[in-house]
Amino acid sequence: MSSGFPLFPAQASTVAGRVDALYFFLIAISGFFSLLIATLLVVFVVRYRRRRAGELPQPIHGSLALELTWTIIPLIIALGTFVWGADVFVYERRVPPGAMEVYVVGKRWMWKTQHMTGQREINELHVPIGVPVKLTMTSEDVIHSFFIPAFRTKQDVLPGRYSTAWFEATTTGTYHLFCAEYCGTKHSQMIGSIHVMEPAAFQTWLAGGATGSPAQEGEKLFQSLACITCHRADSQGRGPRLDGLFGRTVRLSTGETIVADADYIRESILNPTAKVVEGYQPIMPTFQGLVSEEGVMQLIAYIQSLQAPGAEVVAPPGAGGIKLEEGASPAPRKPKP
Ligand code: CUA
Repeated sequence: MSSGFPLFPAQASTVAGRVDALYFFLIAISGFFSLLIATLLVVFVVRYRRRRAGELPQPIHGSLALELTWTIIPLIIALGTFVWGADVFVYERRVPPGAMEVYVVGKRWMWKTQHMTGQREINELHVPIGVPVKLTMTSEDVIHSFFIPAFRTKQDVLPGRYSTAWFEATTTGTYHLFCAEYCGTKHSQMIGSIHVMEPAAFQTWLAGGATGSPAQEGEKLFQSLACITCHRADSQGRGPRLDGLFGRTVRLSTGETIVADADYIRESILNPTAKVVEGYQPIMPTFQGLVSEEGVMQLIAYIQSLQAPGAEVVAPPGAGGIKLEEGASPAPRKPKP
């Protein structure tokens, strides 16, 4: 065995220690009982072996104390493990408020990431240390899985919907990014690097290479796809107004209500007749095939940046939206008439 080859990946995020503690506990419990059962098996085979031909054992009528013991102890262990596991799961699923947002698009066979400030990367992601980072991810083609072993972060990335994950890095360095879902011939080459940087170094990195923010790119798309002709800000359009829409509850023509989150807006762009807003006709054409997944994310970021007059740009918690970080949030704009 080569020395320096670690048996376990580095612990480089806030959740890594929690996952490992639970994992080692499960290993220890499994090891203890495997050993106990194997030992007792050997001991009993020797101790209660047949000593004479024709020997008959004493009949046993059970022992309540013994049966209660081997029922209650495993029950406590199993329920304890469940509660512990649920606690780690909830921690891993609940994105802390104020998390830095990053968009991720998986595509055979690469990872495309985009920061809210406009930087784009391929097969790389630069993040600051000590800051929660929320990933909003989708796929252009098949199912991929975004896996950073050192962070114990793994989340499937699915075509046709958004999945989210978050992490907070605790150690600077470069860590492996893998695709953990078999996705074709070059699946094994769908790898990348996560660079965890000191905040100052990260700010320096951020200062270089920014293109337009997703919201700005989204506004350009909104103009070039002519969305603006129907979704006008003056209530005269043939489509619903979009300012202040994000995170609001919308009434549909079926009488149902739905929260206008990222998934709803995505569906409305790609399959407009699926959920038609009350009072409007299903006249919007689909933009499936006309706009990439990155483009859809940019349109959502733009719609999110459109404030209702006098309102704040904050999606309600749990709206499943792509919430912009404070400071990274572009100035609220209204659609141009
Ligand atoms: Cu993408 Cu495997």
